[in-house]
Amino acid sequence: MKSVIIYKGKYGATRQYAGWLGAALHLPLKTPEELPEADIKTYDCIIMGSSVYIGKLLIRDWIKQYADVLKNKKILLFIVCGSNNPKDREKIIMQNVPDGLVDPSHLFFLPGRLIQSKLSWKDRFMLNVGAMLVKDPEAKKFMRQDSDNVKEENINAIVRMSSAVLEADSISS
Ligand SMILES: Cc1cc2nc3c(=O)[nH]c(=O)nc-3n(C[C@H](O)[C@H](O)[C@H](O)COP(=O)(O)O)c2cc1C
Repeated sequence: MKSVIIYKGKYGATRQYAGWLGAALHLPLKTPEELPEADIKTYDCIIMGSSVYIGKLLIRDWIKQYADVLKNKKILLFIVCGSNNPKDREKIIMQNVPDGLVDPSHLFFLPGRLIQSKLSWKDRFMLNVGAMLVKDPEAKKFMRQDSDNVKEENINAIVRMSSAVLEADSISS
């Protein structure tokens, strides 16, 4: 089965996770820009990864654009973000992932990284505005501090599931 990891992030957290996954599963990594439609069609399994900015998955437009091609494939999705609030996470899925495209057991949230001094002025501004508007004290705290929760062990569950998906297909074909 031909498989690939496609990821989109901004400051390195998503790329780091994609790199660890690629090494663990022996899969190539691509960004959406490196994967034209003709190539997407050649893959049986696609592991997608993306971070979240103001509720939006960076890879959302790409997923929407190719939803028709993707729906015939085995899809796993990892989402890198700051929130670990179940309601926020549910909202992220509802607003970004087309209905039925990703089986809930193939969807993973991975904790992100936020280093204020590395952000562009625009992202720092957005974050400040967000911190003023948000009510949840945990979310407010997260938006005002540096945090780095990116750890290799966080990929264990997705590695197990991806291996099971890849193995099941190689047995059935
Ligand atoms: C401007 C800005 C907006 C963000 N918006 C959200 C958000 O809406 N929800 C969330 O859970 N995390 C949010 N985050 C946290 C990022 O998703 C997190 O820092 C992630 O690790 C970034 O990964 P990347 O470096 O791969 O882009 C935001 C971060 C920034 C800087």
